[in-house]
Amino acid sequence: MARHVIAPLRDFPAGSRKLVDVKGRAIVIFNVDGAFFALANRCPHQGGSLVAGHLVGLIEASEPGCYRYSRRGEIVRCPWHGWEFDLRTGKSWCEPDRVRARQFAVAIAPGAKLVEGPYVAETFPVRIEDDYVVLEA
Ligand code: FES
Repeated sequence: MARHVIAPLRDFPAGSRKLVDVKGRAIVIFNVDGAFFALANRCPHQGGSLVAGHLVGLIEASEPGCYRYSRRGEIVRCPWHGWEFDLRTGKSWCEPDRVRARQFAVAIAPGAKLVEGPYVAETFPVRIEDDYVVLEA
């Protein structure tokens, strides 16, 4: 598995998402309040594009009438038929043991580390004083 420098961190503000092509694979990277997640852009149901999905949170109830909302923006809802996937695991919310979107590791790395390698060469210059979004795929 290689590491790919995707973009400077400054090009990835909180709440944004980017569809990238990595070795012919369409992968969508989400920045949810500074936490980065990456999933294949293909819904495992019928191939809907997850980059166009709505980000929602988790609603749980410990008893009737008592609800708790958490994990704001960490679940993507496919725009085609509404299946939901956990950005942290790729697992389907309804059938977590059977259905999942392919997930990839994504991290932030300082430019000073990237110039040491081993990373796949990209088409933009890497400056040691900046931070970058790096994907393993
Ligand atoms: S294609 Fe995604 S829910 Fe049907």
